[in-house]
Amino acid sequence: MTIKYRGILEWVKQQIEEKQLKTGDKLPSIRLLAEQFQCSKNTVVKALLELEKQHIVYAKPKSGYYVVDYFQTPTPDEKIDFLSAGPDQRIMPYEDFQHCMNQAIDHYKEQLFTYNDHQGLYSLRGELAKYLQQLQVFTTPERIVITSGSQQALHILSALPFPNGKRNILIEQPTYFGMLDTLRLNHLPTLGIDLSMDGIDFERLEDLFRTNDLKFFYIVPRCHNPLGHHYTNEEKKKIVALAEKYDVYIIEDDFLAELDTDSKADPLFAYEPNGRVIYVKSFSKVFLPGLRIATVVLPEKMISTFVHYKFSADFNTSPLSQGALEIYLKNGMFQYHLESVKKLYLTKMNLLVEACALYLPEYVQFTKPKFGFYLTIFLPPQINVDQLINRLHEKHIFVENATRMFLAEYNQPAIRLCISQVNENKIHLGIQQLATCINDLYEKKKNIPLSFKSF
Ligand SMILES: Cc1ncc(COP(=O)(O)O)c(C=O)c1O
Repeated sequence: MTIKYRGILEWVKQQIEEKQLKTGDKLPSIRLLAEQFQCSKNTVVKALLELEKQHIVYAKPKSGYYVVDYFQTPTPDEKIDFLSAGPDQRIMPYEDFQHCMNQAIDHYKEQLFTYNDHQGLYSLRGELAKYLQQLQVFTTPERIVITSGSQQALHILSALPFPNGKRNILIEQPTYFGMLDTLRLNHLPTLGIDLSMDGIDFERLEDLFRTNDLKFFYIVPRCHNPLGHHYTNEEKKKIVALAEKYDVYIIEDDFLAELDTDSKADPLFAYEPNGRVIYVKSFSKVFLPGLRIATVVLPEKMISTFVHYKFSADFNTSPLSQGALEIYLKNGMFQYHLESVKKLYLTKMNLLVEACALYLPEYVQFTKPKFGFYLTIFLPPQINVDQLINRLHEKHIFVENATRMFLAEYNQPAIRLCISQVNENKIHLGIQQLATCINDLYEKKKNIPLSFKSF
């Protein structure tokens, strides 16, 4: 029975892929399929119910089974991009920004084309101090350093000696790949702590804080990359209190703070603004990554060493980018831009979670972020992640291998989906195709011979 059953499943899928059966076409009747596959009507019905469960066909009462309308392979120019994490190009405000660049050049003249303040333009730091208040980060321009993207800030902080004189670094598992890469390339001693959508184990965290020589704990507190997790305010308070107790610094990477829909959510910085928490804020995801601008709020005693390291890396961040951003912030355009950004990304994330719940098979687990860019799908060990990614490429669907976002000892087969560049109309189709590929690979691993070719 199983061989016939699988034969029917594969035959229908192949007919659709080869466009022998198209959107809205009626499948052969149950009787005809039973004859064709030389099996009972019961087996055919079971196979059709499975195809219905996979959203490949749907039943019309008293009529038969029909091909679902979105089951089609995208063409190359219809690629479905769950991989790229740059902003949606439809809302990149580069024309507005062009005006700001011109205004900045008129205002600052040659100052924008020469070496500049290593800490960053003072007037931009002033604007940033004002802007950060909206995110509950209250500080002064003197404590702010502008870096060339937050990647540079993370790189410098990893290498920099800290006032606690300690060496080891603690990271969530999984975590942002760029941070992991920096730690690896610099051979920095790194420990991990498991993170799931339920958060972290606080006993384990305290144990790690107490028994290891921890320089800092790197944390992405909301819109986590790659899980989409966010901590509650209570959890953030607890982490900060533990950090105080055991003299561990916190590096808070709040790269997508603006997408948080909970206006009461605070950053960890709000609970210890005097230096325990180092706040890193990128402008890449909600604005323009090509500007290479981020900001870091440091304790006073670390500023001169940080600026020294920054100077040795690139002297200063591009003054042209800085001057234009200052004008963009000053005239309220950034605020206006954020409104459309928040709406679009929230719509896409809701669609993604909805599609995963509808189409993914029960044996895969996926995170269900409320907002943000990323969602992770954990795969069963039978599925080879690279093979799945290659299959998807053939269908012009692109996803990220999340396995590389783990330290070796925490490794799990997983893929990361990003909503930033994918078109909202393609999300359901993409996830349905993904579900089909996962199912195919999973079934093949069960080593059941398929017989549909013989019909
Ligand atoms: C969590 C996180 N932090 C930092 C960065 C680095 O961003 P940038 O250097 O463009 O500011 C990224 C980029 O993807 C990220 O996902």
